[in-house]
Amino acid sequence: MKTRIAVLVSGGGTNLQALIDAGIPSGEIALVAASRPGVYALERARRAAIPSVVIARKGKTQEEFERELIAALEAHQIDLIVLAGFLTILSEDFTKRYPRRIINIHPSLIPSFCGEGFYGLRVHEAALARGVKLTGATVHFVNEIADGGEIILQKAVEVKAGDTPEILQRRVMEQAEWQLLPQAVELVSREIADARS
Ligand code: GAR
Repeated sequence: MKTRIAVLVSGGGTNLQALIDAGIPSGEIALVAASRPGVYALERARRAAIPSVVIARKGKTQEEFERELIAALEAHQIDLIVLAGFLTILSEDFTKRYPRRIINIHPSLIPSFCGEGFYGLRVHEAALARGVKLTGATVHFVNEIADGGEIILQKAVEVKAGDTPEILQRRVMEQAEWQLLPQAVELVSREIADARS
């Protein structure tokens, strides 16, 4: 039986697109859940005929938000949760429910430029400010520590003279994130599928 995967998004969804385009042989994307209405990731889900829900973070307590999210995950019988540009921190209560069943992509080589406050372009701004010559992307399991869970895959990307945060972000996506995320999702999804059969 294929692993049922939910992809959680908050923005443009290029990593979701990379998963859709690569395909996950041992799994299927059974749900896309967005924490903000109107994000382009929802359009990508619609075009790929993947069921989607909006569970807005705004105007809710953490508990209410997570209760709704869990209800959606259960309704779609989700086995594996992929955070792909999902910018809401999940509580310990939530992460403890799904040990080794939540994975995240982060646009740096953890443990550099990670943890609370490091997301999206901010990560690349910090890397450029520090003057590192190599950065990259990391896929890791999610636990109660922000960006602190076990590392699954990493890939390094060169920083070049004259890079802006936007240019560096694009290079990290093209050369690392869009390859790494489908690989890591397949690895974990295969493990779940194999453990069941
Ligand atoms: C990606 O670069 C992802 O690594 C990053 O947000 C971007 C989302 O882009 N995630 C984080 O910073 C998490 N801390 P996308 O919506 O086009 O996939």
